[in-house]
Amino acid sequence: MAQNVKILSTGRYVPDRVLTNYDLEKMVDTSDEWITQRTGIKERRIVDGTTSTTDLAVRAAKNAMDKAGILPDDIDLVIVATVTPEMFFPSTACLVQKELKLKNAFAFDISAACSGFIYAMAIATHFIQNGFCKNALVIGAEALSRITNWSDRSTCVLFGDGAGAAILSSGDEQGILGFELGSDGENGLLLYCHAFGLSDVTYSQVKENPNFRKIYMEGNEVYKFAVKIMPYAVEKVLEKVGLSSSDIDVFIPHQANIRIIESAAKRLKIPMEKVFVNLHKYGNTSAASIPIALDEAVEEGRIKKGDKVVLVGFGGGLTWASTVIKWV
Ligand code: ACO
Repeated sequence: MAQNVKILSTGRYVPDRVLTNYDLEKMVDTSDEWITQRTGIKERRIVDGTTSTTDLAVRAAKNAMDKAGILPDDIDLVIVATVTPEMFFPSTACLVQKELKLKNAFAFDISAACSGFIYAMAIATHFIQNGFCKNALVIGAEALSRITNWSDRSTCVLFGDGAGAAILSSGDEQGILGFELGSDGENGLLLYCHAFGLSDVTYSQVKENPNFRKIYMEGNEVYKFAVKIMPYAVEKVLEKVGLSSSDIDVFIPHQANIRIIESAAKRLKIPMEKVFVNLHKYGNTSAASIPIALDEAVEEGRIKKGDKVVLVGFGGGLTWASTVIKWV
């Protein structure tokens, strides 16, 4: 029989260093006014030279584990969603396992950019539902500043670093009601970051272009995709679980751009009072954005027992993902 799955706790960690729009004015030809009007972002957090994605993930995970009062031995699955692993292998999840001494877990990473946390939640939910594990630690963690092209004003103003986590467990009541996941590889190169390049990357290519392994984005095209796919992904998942947008108590979208969020909320007829927004503080932290927002929403008392919470993300791949959670 399928097990019920719920969110036991959430956690987050963001680096202390704040990079404001005024700081960016000194780095590229931009202004606080432009960034605020076009994106809603006022500042973002940036890792120092010695902090890695794993460090961020470990701190967010520890925060979630402490809140749940769960012991390291009781975690039996670790999934990290990230596009900024510090190594190709071992996975960030295995590095987290080592740091937190999660010796009974199996651990792996997934790559689905800003949709990554919901993809990871979906994987963990299915493992728990079929009885393969009981307590999964799901983390979204990014040190995007390491792959940001700091000379490209059209992208460097958007991103930030941080990590969020959730512990998913089997429970008496059904908390996680359903998922909608999708991807469109055809349009993947609207937004990318090279690892080895499309063909062999020679040393001279990288030497000639220090931004070769940095984020590239066709912002306008990604914007058009985002404003269409967010409402689509929400409508699809609501249909699957037999709810409508008027049933949503709290809406937590990927924190990329306030204009994208407002457009999606309007199309879905969800009033902005039900929408959680924190992008002014952190910018777009890719896979970390949704779990950081979820944790803050819980901490601020925005989510109450019995509430229906919808999470939705879109991003590189292209990918999209949504889920409906009943807060039990
Ligand atoms: N400061 C000042 N001017 C700028 C800046 C800047 N930082 N960036 C671009 N401009 C200029 C452009 O050069 C352009 O000037 P021009 O008219 O003289 O040519 C003008 O501003 C308008 O540029 P647009 O690109 O048309 O601006 P737009 O309103 O589309 O906003 C933005 C750009 C914010 C990037 C928007 O397209 C966007 O949010 N796209 C979606 C990005 C996103 O959400 N990505 C998420 C996925 S991330 C992931 O998966 C890791």
